[in-house]
Amino acid sequence: MGGPGGLSPFAFRFSPARFLPCPGCTQVGTIPPEPPAVITPRAEESLVVRHTATSVVTIDRFIIDQESRQPKASGELSGILYDLVVAAKMISNKVRSAGLADIIGAAGTENIQGEVQQKLDLFANDTIVKAMDHGGRLCAMASEEEADIIPIPQGFKHGKYLLLFDPLDGSSNIDVNVPVGTIFSVLKKEGEPGPGTTRDMLQSGHRQVAAGYVIYGSSTMMVYTTGQGAHGFTLDPSIGEFLLSHPNIKTPEHGRYLSVNDAYEQHWEEPVRALMRRYRGLDGKRDAMNVRYVGSMVSDFHRNLLGGGLFAYPANAKNPLGKLRLMYECNPLAFICEQAGGAATDGTQRILDVQPTELHQRTPVFIGSRGDVAIAQEMLAR
Ligand code: AHG
Ligand code: MN
Ligand code: MN
Repeated sequence: MGGPGGLSPFAFRFSPARFLPCPGCTQVGTIPPEPPAVITPRAEESLVVRHTATSVVTIDRFIIDQESRQPKASGELSGILYDLVVAAKMISNKVRSAGLADIIGAAGTENIQGEVQQKLDLFANDTIVKAMDHGGRLCAMASEEEADIIPIPQGFKHGKYLLLFDPLDGSSNIDVNVPVGTIFSVLKKEGEPGPGTTRDMLQSGHRQVAAGYVIYGSSTMMVYTTGQGAHGFTLDPSIGEFLLSHPNIKTPEHGRYLSVNDAYEQHWEEPVRALMRRYRGLDGKRDAMNVRYVGSMVSDFHRNLLGGGLFAYPANAKNPLGKLRLMYECNPLAFICEQAGGAATDGTQRILDVQPTELHQRTPVFIGSRGDVAIAQEMLAR
C-alpha cells in the first residue's frame, strides 16, 4: 500500500470539483507538471475522473483528506479502511487467477445458511480476517461464512469498531467468469471497551460509520462511504493502487434497469407481482424498464448505481424473508445508495431503520433509484 506520499512524483490535493497541486508539497523528479486531471460530467452530478500520467488521487490520500474534515477523528476508521484495501487487493489478485490456479469450485463445505462454500469464499474470508484481526481497531467481526462472531485473537488490542462482511458475493458465478464482489459494514461498539459481542452488532444500518463494496469485474473497483458521499476507486494493476475514478457518485432519480430473479414469480404474493408488472410497463402506468440480472448482487447494484435502476429481492413463499442478509449485504449497500441519492426499503420500512434481532437475518430488499424505490414502498405498503 502506498503511503501518503503515494507513487507519483507529484502531490495533488483533492477538491470536490477538481484536483489542485498541493501548495505545501515539494515536487521531486524531473517530469514537467501536467494540466490537472480532467473531470467530465456523468449522470447528473456524478463525475468521472480521467487521470493523466501523474495526476492521481490514491485511495489512501482520499481517506486522509476525508478524515481531516472530521475534527474528532482518531484515525482508527481510516486504519480499518486501509487494511480493507489491502485485503481487497489480495482477493482481487486471487480472483484474477481463477481458472489458472486450483481455486475455483466448491470447497466441499456449507456455511451457516446451508449454502455451498466455494474455495474462493473461504480464501476471501480468511484474507479479510487475517488482514483485520490484529490492527487494534476492531473488537469483533462477523462474516457470512461463519456462524458466530469472529473474536480478536488473544494478545491483540481491542478497538471500538465492529466489522461485518460478505467476503465474496455472487460466488456461485466464479466458475463462469462473472463479476463477484466483497461487501463490508463498519459499526461502532457502544458502551464499555473490550471484546465485541453479537449483541453489540445488532444495530440498525443508520448507525453504520462506514460501508463499502469491492467489485472484481472488468476492472476491480472499490466504492465506499463514511457518510460524506459515495466515492469510487479503480485499481490500477500496473501500480497496485486504487485511484479515485468516481468521486461523489449520484444515482439517477429514475433508472432504466430492473434487476430481479423472476423465476420466483410463481412464489411471489400478488402485491409483488403487481409491482413487477408496473416496472415492466405492463399496467400502462409507466414506461417499461429493461431487465438486467447477473445473480451477483454487487454487480447488479453497481451497474444500477452508476446508470440508474432498481435491484429487488422480494420475499416469496419459499423464502418469507427473501434471501439477502440485512447486516452485511443490504445495510452497507443501502448506506452507499442513500449517500448517492438513492433509497432502499424492505417494502414496509427503510432498510437502514430495520432493527436486527439476529446476525444472519435476511430481509426482502428493493434498492436503487429513489423514484423507483418509492413505487415499491407505495405498492407494497397498501
Ligand atoms: P452470496 O454469493 O454471497 O451467497 O450471495 C448470492 C446472492 C446475491 O449476490 C445474488 O443477488 C443472489 O444471491 C442471487 O440469488 P438467486 O439465484 O436466488 O437469484
Ligand atoms: Mn452475498
Ligand atoms: Mn458471499
